[in-house]
Amino acid sequence: MQETQSSTAAHTGRPVISATGLFTPAESITNAELVASFNAFAERHNAAHADAIAAGKAEALAYSSVEFIEKASGIKARHVMSKAPILDPDVMCPRLPERGNDEVSIMAEIGVAAARQALERAGRDAKDVDAVLCAASNMQRAYPAMAIEIQQALGIEGFGLDMNVACSSATFGIQTAADYIRAGNAKSVLVVSPEITSGHLNWRDRDSHFIFGDVATAVLVEDVGIAPAEHWDILGTKLKTVFSNNIRNNFGFLNRAAPETAGAADKLFVQEGRKVFKEVVPMVAQMILDEAARLGIDPERLRRLWLHQANAGMNRLIAHKVLGHEASEDESPTVLDTYGNTSSAGSIIAFHQHSDDLVTGDTGLICSFGAGYSAGTVFVRKRG
Ligand code: COA
Repeated sequence: MQETQSSTAAHTGRPVISATGLFTPAESITNAELVASFNAFAERHNAAHADAIAAGKAEALAYSSVEFIEKASGIKARHVMSKAPILDPDVMCPRLPERGNDEVSIMAEIGVAAARQALERAGRDAKDVDAVLCAASNMQRAYPAMAIEIQQALGIEGFGLDMNVACSSATFGIQTAADYIRAGNAKSVLVVSPEITSGHLNWRDRDSHFIFGDVATAVLVEDVGIAPAEHWDILGTKLKTVFSNNIRNNFGFLNRAAPETAGAADKLFVQEGRKVFKEVVPMVAQMILDEAARLGIDPERLRRLWLHQANAGMNRLIAHKVLGHEASEDESPTVLDTYGNTSSAGSIIAFHQHSDDLVTGDTGLICSFGAGYSAGTVFVRKRG
């Protein structure tokens, strides 16, 4: 396709973030509600297996507690797409009715809602967007790509593709979008992260049942030549992956066991939380410091860190290593308390909700990390 004179003139090859968007499900589960449901399930399980437990042939399920969850993770509540079935001790997973092929799928629907907000905030007409990346830790089907359905629903020409780098999907998406712009292959790219993590969470697992929540975010990455006056310069992006089995989900098209069958638990999210904590904190802190040095940025002068939202303790430690002091809520805002871990969307929610007060010249960092292991940094500076 031939470019027009004006669109050629607008191309500078410098990527910026023009705007972000957020979709938050209406329903939310408090820790008290979650623990009541889990403990009812554990009680029923233990009663049903009382003889085997008494004979030492089976282990009783231990109860969960609100105090533990809040102390270990910082999570107080999480939004979900399907609350009642998750809390029903006989179900304990979301029940999202299957939709016909002629209806918009639920992942696309919430992705579109977040994308529309980002477009509106940027004053961008969807027809002027060149590409859609659906970057998330789970796709609800193999194909066609979720991104292409989102593209269609928004009326975008060009192309779309899905990418999955677990909790780091959004930052990997931002770098990919930025690279399209640097290379001149696109001027406006939507990175959409619909995360229905309630579907991969094992709500019957005491160690992890409190972790995740549902949400969708969108980031509009554009060439500065067409971006609105108020935007965020992307100063540099860096990605890293190191293979680890400590966060894993074996669900896939080669294993189709029903979730209720024995042995199906590993087809959901599983983790060695302690190891993740110990291994990921130093890896990410060092990566941030190395990248800041490469970009000539003094990490101690970063105005704000929008970190991945998995665990309040992890973020406290990472922020301390980067800033050189205990971070205030203003320097490293938390959304984990009300959203839980929303996988790749977490750092984007933090950025979306806690960036309007920054002023021109302020420099900050969007950073995500998670399964893979994977980690991504996006250093940004406010303009306009
Ligand atoms: N309620 C009450 N007690 C619980 C519990 C629950 N829901 N879950 C676990 N416990 C108990 C354990 O049985 C253990 O008891 P013990 O000491 O008697 O053996 C104790 O609490 C500590 O458990 P542990 O799993 O070691 O807790 P933790 O302090 O490591 O916290 C995580 C668990 C998952 C919150 C934490 O390790 C973490 O956030 N890790 C990083 C996770 C992460 O970033 N993952 C990436 C996902 S994208």
